[in-house]
Amino acid sequence: MTEGIRMKVVKGVGDMKALSRTLKREGKTIAFVPTMGALHDGHLSLMAEGKKRADVLVSSVFVNPTQFGPNEDYKKYARDTEGDLAKMSRAGVDVAFFPEPEEIYPPGAQTYVEVTELQKPLCGASRPGHFRGVATVVLKLFNIVKPDVAIFGKKDFQQLQVIKRMVRDLDLDVEIVGMPTWRESSGLAMSSRNAYLSGEERERAASLSKALREIKRNFDGGEKDAAALVEYGRRVILNASAGNIDYLEIRKGETLEEVKSVSPGDVAALAVKVGGARLIDNIEL
Ligand code: PAJ
Repeated sequence: MTEGIRMKVVKGVGDMKALSRTLKREGKTIAFVPTMGALHDGHLSLMAEGKKRADVLVSSVFVNPTQFGPNEDYKKYARDTEGDLAKMSRAGVDVAFFPEPEEIYPPGAQTYVEVTELQKPLCGASRPGHFRGVATVVLKLFNIVKPDVAIFGKKDFQQLQVIKRMVRDLDLDVEIVGMPTWRESSGLAMSSRNAYLSGEERERAASLSKALREIKRNFDGGEKDAAALVEYGRRVILNASAGNIDYLEIRKGETLEEVKSVSPGDVAALAVKVGGARLIDNIEL
């Protein structure tokens, strides 16, 4: 769609399906960036990439209830529709899709997608059901939007692998693109959940990316033992009293299998609870 033309805002699932069908019939390609809103520069970098990769850029904001556990932050998750619409429009989004939970999950909905092995470790271990919710909603959004290409962030590294595997296993006709993590100047990975941090917690949270860089530095310096590398990282987080480490592990990039001896392409990933925010980050070694 031509830039400068006003962004379309679509709420209804039926309306979005009809619009995508029309675009396809006109021979247009569709890039898609799904989000849960409270948009920041990381999200906007995905939209900039989407803009380059297709004729029409669709982006969605949907805080997906099925990927939150019963004691998680679904209710308090930041919602800023006006701010998000303004940012999407500036980012050149052609179609902003804002579906309602009641329409995405009508009464009686009982069909879910599970990527059985990739959903288990790391975040899956402490958030049971999380990746089932992610895979299910992403498949549904793909069916509604019918994108040729969809852009995701490497910040959510396990999520990206789960989605890539789902696309492969279910023969979905969509190309998945992973984009680098956008960071604050302190190194802190941008996240909608950073809004939960106080100023002082934000400073402590900078130690998470520092720990990952320390692991990378030691790996580049010749240390290949996963346990030793993890220990270097752990010490950085403990010294900063950043918070409770949920996990800090090194795994194979695609299969997420555990590694004892680290090779290039393996990924160091962590989740740490800093104050009221559970933050995740990772680095490719
Ligand atoms: P959300 O956390 O809003 O993230 C939307 C997309 O932005 C994801 O692909 C995520 O990896 C990417 N992203 C988040 N922070 C980023 C950063 N600092 N740099 C680059 N990209 C970043 O992830 C979700 O929503 C949901 O699980 C979703 C896929 C929409 C399904 O509900």
